[in-house]
Amino acid sequence: MSALLEIRDLHVSINDKEILKGVNLTINKGEIHALMGPNGNGKSTLAATIAGKEAYKVTQGEIYYKGKNLFDLSIEDRAREGIFLGFQYPIEIQGVSMVNFMRSAINEIRKYHKQPLMSSAEFLAFMEEKKKIVEMTTKLSNRSVNEGFSGGEKKRNEIFQMAMLEPELAILDETDSGLDIDALRIVASGVNKLHSADNAIFLITHYQRLLDYIVPDFVHILYEGKIAMTGDKYLAIKLEENGYDWVKNEIEHKN
Ligand SMILES: Nc1ncnc2c1ncn2[C@@H]1O[C@H](COP(=O)(O)OP(=O)(O)OP(=O)(O)O)[C@@H](O)[C@H]1O
Ligand SMILES: [Mg+2]
Repeated sequence: MSALLEIRDLHVSINDKEILKGVNLTINKGEIHALMGPNGNGKSTLAATIAGKEAYKVTQGEIYYKGKNLFDLSIEDRAREGIFLGFQYPIEIQGVSMVNFMRSAINEIRKYHKQPLMSSAEFLAFMEEKKKIVEMTTKLSNRSVNEGFSGGEKKRNEIFQMAMLEPELAILDETDSGLDIDALRIVASGVNKLHSADNAIFLITHYQRLLDYIVPDFVHILYEGKIAMTGDKYLAIKLEENGYDWVKNEIEHKN
């Protein structure tokens, strides 16, 4: 069986500056991967490249998703094929309610897979069920997409969107930043509820703390455009204790 996501020797540039310099990574269904690394080392670039955002130029390497060449899929088709990217800085959409936004997103996916569209009643029932996962109040989902949401509400909303879209590959970029302790617990428990043998979670985080709640199978450290280290959850603990100078020394030692 092919991997859910297979990245081989990926090089990515932004404005002719090479950010990713040969990333190799394989993610299988059922797995949780955490990606850590210093600011500005390319974590969000990797996430954006997988999701297919423009401005990120792939100069070398390959990505396979469910055995298909990912670069043959448009940004929309990647989403329809089950790739979800939670934004590090979630956008606001004025005048579009969460309800309408989510219903059209879900029906887009259904259309693509030639499935019957959800009726309003079906959709509302589905939404009620999913709201419980993130302990969301009714008020929140009736408001415009992210408009005037607090930072923590946006993050919780991101997991709510993930719950609704049921992605096969969920990429969460710093979903933990700016969350209070209770919200962190709710968001983490939401992710755990959504995780199954049929999907994979790719978590980008700066803090080991999140990984106490969402326990990763693999932890990777992206350093200077490459995955410099891979380990289990204890790698994150070691990193927290020793910092990035330790990573730098380890790499220099190897070479
Ligand atoms: N759209 C863009 N235009 C120009 N430069 C960019 C763009 N996106 C990213 N970069 C640059 O690419 C480098 C990698 O950025 P990236 O956002 O991937 O880092 P990161 O590892 O996610 O950092 P952080 O931990 O701070 O979120 C940075 O130097 C950043 O300034
Ligand atoms: Mg980032």
